[in-house]
Amino acid sequence: MTLAVCPGSFDPVTLGHLDIVARARTMFDEVVLAVAHNSAKTYLFDLEHRLALARDAVAGLDVRVEPVPGLLAAFCHDVGANAIVKGLRGGADVDAELAMALMNRHLSDVETVFVPGDGALAHVASSLVKDVARHGGDVADLVPPGVAAALADAFPARPTPGATR
Ligand code: PNS
Repeated sequence: MTLAVCPGSFDPVTLGHLDIVARARTMFDEVVLAVAHNSAKTYLFDLEHRLALARDAVAGLDVRVEPVPGLLAAFCHDVGANAIVKGLRGGADVDAELAMALMNRHLSDVETVFVPGDGALAHVASSLVKDVARHGGDVADLVPPGVAAALADAFPARPTPGATR
């Protein structure tokens, strides 16, 4: 049995993430979507909420969702991962991901497999999705329905300044 870990912040999970998870599932017997902490980020959704949204999103995909309590490399060792799978949208992702891949291999010998994502989703990033939602834009075709609902709760529509009602 081969096992891949698809790690990330998933704040929140997007259709871009699900595309990569589905591709990983075609190459590995088991896939774990691993919700980890990125020290460089401030999160909109807390860990429990990110886990719940991800679990709802992968329902039916035969994918486990687990929290990463500390180092991703240690988590991969503990679960017996054969590889980390990360998606690439473009060159900026390579720059960001290569150092992490090398560090994770340095720490636990785990290899990272980079998978090109669906080009039609190359603009989909959690940070952009949150910004669109924060400003009242439609994110329904960028995220799973549960995430769209959570974003609507997080950013309730506000009356337009100057509007009478
Ligand atoms: O979606 P992100 O924020 O780009 O994912 C980055 C993440 C969370 C996978 C990375 O920050 C991570 O692995 N965090 C866990 C702690 C860790 O192992 N840090 C060293 C990474 S080389």
